Amino acid sequence: MTADRDARKREAAMAAVAMVQDGMVVGLGTGSTAAFAIDGLIARVRAGLRIVGIPTSERSAKQAREGGITLTDFAAHPKVDLTIDGADEIACETLDLVKGLGGALLREKIVAAASERLVIIADEPKLVPNLGSTCPVPVEVVPFGHETTAARLASLGARPVLRMATAKPFRTDGGNLILDCHFGRITDPRGLERALSATVGVVETGLFIGMASVALVATDTGVVRLEREGLPAA
Ligand code: A5P
Repeated sequence: MTADRDARKREAAMAAVAMVQDGMVVGLGTGSTAAFAIDGLIARVRAGLRIVGIPTSERSAKQAREGGITLTDFAAHPKVDLTIDGADEIACETLDLVKGLGGALLREKIVAAASERLVIIADEPKLVPNLGSTCPVPVEVVPFGHETTAARLASLGARPVLRMATAKPFRTDGGNLILDCHFGRITDPRGLERALSATVGVVETGLFIGMASVALVATDTGVVRLEREGLPAA
């Protein structure tokens, strides 16, 4: 089952890697699906592709650097041509996303916001009619007063759970904590994103609204390309 899912994730990743062109600044996502894309980019770089990458986590930076992808930053390259990243849920009609089960949501959102195109890669179970159907919304919060931040998030309808890394709270690359906020089926993702973002103590939320340009979703019958309405084809 895991092997099947990995094969699907790799297929979606390879379809996105094929969109990368010489000279591009490429956002490098985080997670098991994005790792397949970084592997694919490494193979293309070894075959002569010239790109620079902006990683969304220390993990992805390490993988890319060790594979020979030149890394850059926003001081040198304020705009990213194309970012390839995974997602935990993709709303099939809007391409709104839940991200951050891998813990990298803050850097992922910064890179996504600076990207001309955000290409999301996933296997089919990630595609849902409504966000919140299969997973919580990860919310990154500052450590100070996280208990009171959690109480405010609960007043918005969440059941917040502090993410743990075995015995200690999980720390993000930025040194913050994550509250996994269980809402159940979310009917107004945009409104919820605004309310979460306006909560004191919240650094960033895992709701990515109106950011994805394209989703490449690997199914039993091949990779399906979904485009966000109102956008020119990516
Ligand atoms: C990382 O913080 C996440 O946003 C990942 O992109 C997301 O969790 C998808 O990960 P997988 O590809 O491992 O499912």
